[in-house]
Amino acid sequence: LNVSIIGVPMDHGQNRRGVDMGPSAIRYAGVVDRIENLGHTVKDEGDIQVGHADGQVDTDTNLRNMTVITEAMEALGEKVQAVTKTGNFPLVLGGDHSIAIGTLAGISPNHENLGVIWYDAHADMNTSETSPSGNIHGMPLAASFGHGHEKLTQIRGFAPKVKPENIVIIGARSVDPGERELIRERGIKVYSMHEIDKMGMDFVIEDSIRYLKEERGTDGVHLSLDLDGIDPLYTPGVGTPVPGGISYRESHLAMEMLHDAGIITSAEFVEVNPILDEKNRTADVAVALIGSLLGEKLL
Ligand code: ARG
Ligand code: MN
Ligand code: MN
Ligand code: MN
Repeated sequence: LNVSIIGVPMDHGQNRRGVDMGPSAIRYAGVVDRIENLGHTVKDEGDIQVGHADGQVDTDTNLRNMTVITEAMEALGEKVQAVTKTGNFPLVLGGDHSIAIGTLAGISPNHENLGVIWYDAHADMNTSETSPSGNIHGMPLAASFGHGHEKLTQIRGFAPKVKPENIVIIGARSVDPGERELIRERGIKVYSMHEIDKMGMDFVIEDSIRYLKEERGTDGVHLSLDLDGIDPLYTPGVGTPVPGGISYRESHLAMEMLHDAGIITSAEFVEVNPILDEKNRTADVAVALIGSLLGEKLL
């Protein structure tokens, strides 16, 4: 594999500063060596430029820091598309989860029928109308299937980036009322903590692979992994921690199974906030999971 790393020092999609240092923390935790040691080549493409913002919610759109985010997402989409075209595997490092809007805008044109695995405590399916916070990091999944304000859905001039029926959410345990309604309405497949507890991660990943590959016939799957999907016991350095999450072991199993199935064609790891972390533990977990996703085995 030829892996292209793209950092996105974005913290304007939510209220807590520091998540813009996520790409540095993940690099510091040794992501490049970890991937190279698996026999892949790595090109660090550097960071996307992110402007400054005043934290205000735009009165017309109810979107916080709208302009600075949409500008960076146009640039990220362009970069990711260019990388994908060369045949490299895009690995995007966040930054808050608003960046998924740009990542998916870049990946989508290179696929006929893209699938997405959204590994997260949250559904990130709010819109400017349903959002309790105005924070864009709670909206990227809805925006990507074309739902929400056109400032977010129309990044790079087209929508949707992914069909709602090609999405699988894993690890959900904090869902807002508007999101719940949308999940039902659009028939989004969700493996919440309930299903993970009851049937095990083994079944959940097996079934996700079957669903995306056989039932939906996808020609590539993007993994969007929010570190808050994992229990804050293991990943305390996130801005919106929710207790009762996926364990460290379950997460490794999930990554190993996804690797063995050979379905993942791009990935992003988001919401690492070194200011809220303990000795870079959350970035260390991100790097360990990236290792498993890209083929690391004990023996
Ligand atoms: N649902 C909440 C909101 O919309 C929290 C979203 C958290 N999202 C995330 N990517 N961590 O504000
Ligand atoms: Mn800033
Ligand atoms: Mn989350
Ligand atoms: Mn998220």
